[in-house]
Amino acid sequence: MADSGGFSGPLLLVGCGKMGGALLGGWLDQGIAADAMLVVEPALDTRHGNVPAEVTVLANAGGIPANFTPAVVVFAVKPQVMAEVVPNYARFVADGAVFLSIAAGTPISFFERNLGAGAAVVRVMPNTPAAVRRGMSVLCANDHASAAQRDLCGGLMAAVGDTAWLSDETLMDAVTAVSGSGPAYVFHLIECLAQAGVEVGLEPGLAARLALQTVAGSGELARHSDDDAVQLRINVTSPGGTTQAALEILMGEGGLQPLMTAAVRAAEKRGRELGA
Ligand SMILES: NC(=O)c1ccc[n+]([C@@H]2O[C@H](COP(=O)([O-])OP(=O)(O)OC[C@H]3O[C@@H](n4cnc5c(N)ncnc54)[C@H](OP(=O)(O)O)[C@@H]3O)[C@@H](O)[C@H]2O)c1
Repeated sequence: MADSGGFSGPLLLVGCGKMGGALLGGWLDQGIAADAMLVVEPALDTRHGNVPAEVTVLANAGGIPANFTPAVVVFAVKPQVMAEVVPNYARFVADGAVFLSIAAGTPISFFERNLGAGAAVVRVMPNTPAAVRRGMSVLCANDHASAAQRDLCGGLMAAVGDTAWLSDETLMDAVTAVSGSGPAYVFHLIECLAQAGVEVGLEPGLAARLALQTVAGSGELARHSDDDAVQLRINVTSPGGTTQAALEILMGEGGLQPLMTAAVRAAEKRGRELGA
């Protein structure tokens, strides 16, 4: 279990869907008390069955008690509803709250416009492995966020995986193209490896199992190894062997690297278009 870093709240979570729910689970595991958190989420249905009863869930911002002064307000709603949601929380700027947004493609300037001058804002790009505490989150803060507020936001994201900071917000589209969208590329790799297995004669169920366990196990090995990915690849490639025969295709002209670079460039360009 990660350490809560001494954070005792209060924390206001706005939106408790897939990503907000994963974060809430991580914070509870981290030791943040359930009664130090308040959740605003209009969908009070079975989806939220995993929210412990001790965590108060409100249907809208109007239900927040007047004396509630959060140290941090986390926006975890879809980018499309941000414009309607964010102004409801502007009153917490005066209380000195930091606003942490996980919305893809929504710039810091959007929150500054909608919360008012002086709002401390931290934007973060997490990814879906956060649901199993193996996420990668990249954070970027505005000048109003103090060192303590940055540490607080970094600590909250560390509850669901690794964290890194960027000082240049324009690189968030590149981050999104690598780690934000990246899980989908890896899922597609599993699909492709399984399909290739079927094409060399394996039964589909077995091929899918081999592909999944190979990708998951290799990722885990890479994570725990002192060697980088290049060395790990070299370690399993005997000259003239089967792995080398495959890598001559994957690393040959028109192989995986130019394809991956083109894919990441396309995602980065799309991110810039969506954010414009
Ligand atoms: N999932 C990912 O892989 C991922 C990765 C990186 C970043 N993100 C970012 O994370 C954010 C949330 O994504 P998600 O996948 O978790 O979406 P999600 O599962 O749809 O969660 C959003 C939740 O917010 C609720 N909501 C809607 N309006 C609200 C309001 N006015 N006040 C409070 N809550 C409200 C939604 O309820 P209803 O369903 O009833 O509308 C829903 O439960 C997005 O901004 C996304 O860009 C997601």
